[in-house]
Amino acid sequence: MKRIYSPVLIAGLLLAGILLLTSHDSPAAAGPKRLSSFDPQVKQLLAQMTLDEKIGQMTQPDQEFLLKAPEDIQKYFVGSVLSGGNSDPKEGNSLEAWTNLYDRLQTEAMKTRLGIPILYGVDAVHGHNNVLGAVIFPHNINLGCTRDPALVEKIARITAREVRATGVQWTFAPCVTVPQDIRWGRTYEGFSEDPRIVATLGEAAVRGLQGLDLSSPLSILACAKHYVGDGGTSPRAAGPEGVAPAGPGASARLRLDQGDTRLDEATLRRIHLPGYIAAIRAGVGSIMPSYSSWNGVKCSASKRLLTEILKQELGFEGFLISDYNAIDQIKPGDYKGSIEISINAGMDMAMVPSNYRNYVRYLKELVEEGKVPMSRIDDAVTRILRVKFAMGLMDKNRSQLADRKLHQSFGSAEHRAVAREAVRKSLVLLKNDRQTLPLSKQAARIHVAGASADDLGNQCGGWTIQWQGQSGNVTPGGTTILAAIKAAAAPATKVSYSRDGTGAEGASVGIVVIGERPYAEGVGDRADLSLAKEDVEAVNNVKKAGIPVVVILVSGRPMILSGVLPQADAFLAAFLPGTEGAGVADVLFGSDKPSGKLSFSWPRSNDQLPLNLNGPKDKYNPLFPAGYGLSY
Ligand code: GLC
Repeated sequence: MKRIYSPVLIAGLLLAGILLLTSHDSPAAAGPKRLSSFDPQVKQLLAQMTLDEKIGQMTQPDQEFLLKAPEDIQKYFVGSVLSGGNSDPKEGNSLEAWTNLYDRLQTEAMKTRLGIPILYGVDAVHGHNNVLGAVIFPHNINLGCTRDPALVEKIARITAREVRATGVQWTFAPCVTVPQDIRWGRTYEGFSEDPRIVATLGEAAVRGLQGLDLSSPLSILACAKHYVGDGGTSPRAAGPEGVAPAGPGASARLRLDQGDTRLDEATLRRIHLPGYIAAIRAGVGSIMPSYSSWNGVKCSASKRLLTEILKQELGFEGFLISDYNAIDQIKPGDYKGSIEISINAGMDMAMVPSNYRNYVRYLKELVEEGKVPMSRIDDAVTRILRVKFAMGLMDKNRSQLADRKLHQSFGSAEHRAVAREAVRKSLVLLKNDRQTLPLSKQAARIHVAGASADDLGNQCGGWTIQWQGQSGNVTPGGTTILAAIKAAAAPATKVSYSRDGTGAEGASVGIVVIGERPYAEGVGDRADLSLAKEDVEAVNNVKKAGIPVVVILVSGRPMILSGVLPQADAFLAAFLPGTEGAGVADVLFGSDKPSGKLSFSWPRSNDQLPLNLNGPKDKYNPLFPAGYGLSY
């Protein structure tokens, strides 16, 4: 007998199937566990906490200032500690010293009445870049040129593992900024000027850092930053507070960093919000508001941005961590008033490296005076504790100290191989006349020149061992571009080097590696993106030798090439490749073809700036458009 199913039954089954697939808890939609699913445990703990203990969870000093009063970590019930860009263990910068520092502070923190472990945060923005011997991956500007989310996730996973090797469980990354003006010193911390690339790669980075299970001992807490519009500020003349910009543009003072982003809300959302929507989708547990302002209001003071849009509209369930002393900038000279505004706007934890005692004192007074409601304190602490439960920090059966077995893979050849792959895939070939590249491995002699040919620090850029980074042999285990060329060339090939490019006569080919010296944040703000005189001279000296000239640019952004591009037969943009210079040689000698595509528009001259895809189309006339890149 033919069974006839009623249309109602069929529709009901279909609806049930759809609901199952789209419901958050169904295995089919398996993603990170929602942070609010930990609220029952959070509420139970919160109910036991004193006001002092709650405020302690909202306080993040820097370890270097706790040295003067180690008892403060217990006295103030501190819930988190950071190491800023230059804040290394007092015993020195080694894997062992970092691990001992973490264990010592965590042990102290867990002696408090409730024994709530600390979250230890660092800026692991391209590997565990504070620590000597860590693999330094290419910066985000390079990763943007790969357009490869799987690679970005793999890099983030390795970074998480190397960070965990020191016990540290939190990185202030990924930076999902969308730089609109490459004169900004933080351009290289961005994946791209294109918000779609930023969203895709930012989501991949969060997935890699946090994994699908934030409680994994190989996962670390990610922090999407700097919310919001940090890369869209308007240039302003650098006043007396202005930092003298690095490089030849020093005379032309200009400030972009920590400026004011003047956009209507629709444009702000279109260009600068996608990275945060993607990061929240990936389950990001923390977000860092920007030093910068939106239409004159500090992001760290904006209830519209922090609470209404991020927490209420977008449903962000984690916590907000302020930038380094960013709260102080809200009402200069009135620290207590600044704290009141920021916490009431929705800030949950304050990065208060040295001034943490005053922060704790003022916040307690504000609560007692009724100026900061206890409900706001409870919301902030709930958000912080959600993350700690999700990470397994509250699991009494689990050690919260470092897993030193991870030291074996720290800086390993296996990790470096992934970084080398990222270097290869991030290089952008801008010019290759007469098939100058790839180089023959049988060339009789290769002459290498330029200030960045044999300089690991220049290859790595800022946020490397030191906050600002520095030129020179900054960390063990890396390979400079010169060393990589020597290793890749045939044994019979002679590889000579001169910084200024002289002595190239008679070589088969000349390779000139030029570009920027390391910088970070506002120190890198520059009005003039011309190349240093020394770099132009090195290219000219090799050109005078009458041999093919390959120019490699190591820089945190596109630069003005009018002085060197005509002399170059081939031109490779390497941006900031990090420690694994061998990836450059892989492409130079053709064992791998260049596949990178520009993630930023390349200007012809300074006066075109700012120049990007989001600007007026009739003014868009770059030397090389975003998306450009040749291959063999
Ligand atoms: C810095 C940066 C931020 C970093 C923080 C901690 O000033 O703005 O990106 O995470 O301080 O080092």
